Amino acid sequence: MNDTPVITCSHVTKTFVTEAEQLTILHDISFEVPCGRTVSITGPSGCGKSTLLSLLGGLDRPTHGTIFIDGFSVHDTSETELARFRSEKLGFIFQFHFLLKDFSALENVMMPHLILYGNRQQARNVARELLGIVGLENRMHHYPDQLSGGERQRVAIARALINKPKVVLADEPTGNLDENNAGIIETILLETIRQFDTTLLLVTHDSDFAKKTDIQFRIHEGNLFTL
Ligand SMILES: Nc1ncnc2c1ncn2[C@@H]1O[C@H](COP(=O)(O)OP(=O)(O)O)[C@@H](O)[C@H]1O
Ligand SMILES: [Mg+2]
Repeated sequence: MNDTPVITCSHVTKTFVTEAEQLTILHDISFEVPCGRTVSITGPSGCGKSTLLSLLGGLDRPTHGTIFIDGFSVHDTSETELARFRSEKLGFIFQFHFLLKDFSALENVMMPHLILYGNRQQARNVARELLGIVGLENRMHHYPDQLSGGERQRVAIARALINKPKVVLADEPTGNLDENNAGIIETILLETIRQFDTTLLLVTHDSDFAKKTDIQFRIHEGNLFTL
């Protein structure tokens, strides 16, 4: 862990233009996140949390402003370069797991590594290790529909970490889980992120979960506040 920012977001504004109106969701947002920190973002439904994560992940572009992740200009790079950047430097975890239903837990976790490096044996070894870390050594050959909701999210965490990303973006990763499973996922996520010295940006509506991160942001009326 050091103080070099891995994320630098400067004067970011996002306006959606629809037929009826122009909606400015994020107004002139600026923040930095040092390497290896965990960050939570809370705020009322519809305030722009997922929009901000999409901008940071290069899934959408800001209307104004700049975003650098690990020195890479996410806001103005070509789609091809962005795709490579995402697979090398970012991990994504969503509320819904997005596991491929025709592939086992092991194959799902291997996939991003296999796509990036093309080495099946190596991908399998790293995936096995990660599934062990998230406590699924006995579920590697299960298919998504043979796993519980909490187990599927553990697979999603392992998949997000397989390429040793600089930053993991997690959008309501416990949003679909009961309290007990949510607690298990919280612990596993925060522990594995710290173990890998990765930076986490976590969107959650659960204020207790949010308080467990090193840095806590809140979005209110398009502005970002540090809590
Ligand atoms: N592609 C889009 N076009 C128009 N409006 C959008 C689009 N995506 C999101 N919005 C609007 O932006 C606001 C913020 O959405 P979102 O970031 O998903 O909120 P949150 O994740 O905080 O609940 C919402 O009012 C939503 O309707
Ligand atoms: Mg959202």
